[in-house]
Amino acid sequence: MKIGIIGAGNIGGNLTRRLTALGHDVSVANSRGPHTLTALAEETGATPVPVEEAARGAEIVVVTIPLKRVPELPSGVLDGAAEGVAVIDTGNYYPQQRDGRIAGIEDEGLTESRWTEGHLGHPVVKAFNGTYAQDILDRHRPAGAPDRMALPVAGDDEAAKAKVRALIDELGFDTVDAGGIDDSWRQQPDTPVYGLREGVDGVTKALAEASPERPAGFRG
Ligand SMILES: NC(=O)c1ccc[n+]([C@@H]2O[C@H](COP(=O)([O-])OP(=O)(O)OC[C@H]3O[C@@H](n4cnc5c(N)ncnc54)[C@H](OP(=O)(O)O)[C@@H]3O)[C@@H](O)[C@H]2O)c1
Repeated sequence: MKIGIIGAGNIGGNLTRRLTALGHDVSVANSRGPHTLTALAEETGATPVPVEEAARGAEIVVVTIPLKRVPELPSGVLDGAAEGVAVIDTGNYYPQQRDGRIAGIEDEGLTESRWTEGHLGHPVVKAFNGTYAQDILDRHRPAGAPDRMALPVAGDDEAAKAKVRALIDELGFDTVDAGGIDDSWRQQPDTPVYGLREGVDGVTKALAEASPERPAGFRG
């Protein structure tokens, strides 16, 4: 499958490693340009591209950059993607450590991913946001393994969500349907499921136990 990855850091880099290992055709972009991605390209066989070209022809695009930098993405960044493209958003809002105060999230009460959708002009599927980057490399397991982890996946577009859940299964993780994007506060930072290394039952229980109130440490 043709997959575009926007962001080549902890998460984008490790998704590039695993998805190329699984035989996918991966294009990867960062903010500084493809010439800065030669080491990752040599290691993985992924194609480094300018961010404007990352989505070209892709059936799945992963947006995995710090939240505060989402507004920097060029308008139309998803133009040229394959019809029905599923856009994965791995983002988290860290107002105090990284992102600064974002009014749409704090004042309008948007979930992080709803805010990101507004900038992208395209629905997203929220996934991997509570997954340690290293776990993508180290904790994948075959289907049915007793210690296989599950990841929560939220999104409004059921077809896109199904496509993302199938890819995550291929990557070696179970998934739990975490509802739509307006429900995705259940998997935001500091919720019970965030960083949880458990299977389907544990993730389902943790999602149910989340509080909609944004914790003080995650307010700007
Ligand atoms: N680290 C984790 O374990 C983890 C786990 C789950 C979710 N997350 C979330 O996933 C997101 C990415 O986290 P990360 O740790 O992978 O970030 P990171 O290591 O800081 O890497 C960020 C990447 O985004 C790129 N980038 C920044 N602005 C860009 C732009 N305007 N256009 C294109 N690329 C741009 C950077 O490129 P340059 O270096 O060229 O600027 C870099 O490759 C964050 O929202 C984070 O909270 C992280």
